[in-house]
Amino acid sequence: MFSNTHFSKAKKYWYMGKFYDWSEPIFHPMMHALHYGTSTFEGIRAYLTPHGPAIFRLKEHVDRLFHSASVIKMKVLPFTKEEIIQACKDVIRENGLDQAYIRPLMFYSYGNLGLVPSFCPIELLIGAWEWGAYLGETGDKGVFGCIVPKRRIHISQLDLSAKLGGVYVQSTINGLEARERGYDEAIFLNLEGRIAEGPGENICLIKNNVLHANSASESVLEGITRSSLLEIAPDLGLKTLIAPITKEDLFSADEAFYCGTAAEISPITKVADLSEKLENPPVYIIGSGKPGVLTMKLAEAYRQIVTGKNPKYEKWLAYVNK
Ligand SMILES: Cc1ncc(COP(=O)(O)O)c(C=O)c1O
Repeated sequence: MFSNTHFSKAKKYWYMGKFYDWSEPIFHPMMHALHYGTSTFEGIRAYLTPHGPAIFRLKEHVDRLFHSASVIKMKVLPFTKEEIIQACKDVIRENGLDQAYIRPLMFYSYGNLGLVPSFCPIELLIGAWEWGAYLGETGDKGVFGCIVPKRRIHISQLDLSAKLGGVYVQSTINGLEARERGYDEAIFLNLEGRIAEGPGENICLIKNNVLHANSASESVLEGITRSSLLEIAPDLGLKTLIAPITKEDLFSADEAFYCGTAAEISPITKVADLSEKLENPPVYIIGSGKPGVLTMKLAEAYRQIVTGKNPKYEKWLAYVNK
């Protein structure tokens, strides 16, 4: 039996079309994904709107789940996109959640344990629970990021447009490393030595009223949050730039932030550079050293959209009860 201590308000999870009590384990220990990370997953959020809970950009997340499945060569998928969209809504409803993080996980299940999962069926589970700010409520302190010494896996080695379970081992190790050293979150450089992304977030800058993001060729996942922000930025009078981000761009930015479904928009106010492996790593203050004004405006605009208060972007919401 499992408790749900760190999964607030989670009562049931969905597995292959049925609901199970959160505390009920149903997997075989020899399932392929447990051993080799042969899974693909999504991180999605639902927010409370005037019309009840709505899931933000659900279609895009399910499209990405299928894309990831194709990258890891999953051939016979157990459910259609439409069925998964419905199941995500059902999970929110079944758990009585108003706002939630939703985690669909598609994986090579129990069959054989050779690296090639020839006899492993593909299975799907979906969990949902209430999950607050991923990087904590940092208030006007913002996030103290650190550029970790290990470089991000390179786009020439793995297709980083897919969210594959095993790939996240690198994120876990470096996320732990950053926290062990007293920082809030890691920042990866790519093999070229430029800023790539966080362990589970994109990184954006604002300088001279321009929102600056990098793209897939920099060995990053082009996140759905990042894309949404690039689309809404002009509404706030910001120009946009998609181009590589150097360390110097980051250190001299007016503002910087992490963005992603889990982290939402988290201002970066200080960055330590551990990449040169110096005994006393240099620390750079970003802008004023406080969460940036434009970053907070973007965050507020984003919040208005996800909570259904901006009709222009209602197209991005999938209402749970409709
Ligand atoms: C490595 C990585 N980069 C960026 C992101 C941000 O993506 P999204 O905004 O789609 O959540 C995520 C989260 O899914 C991620 O895992």
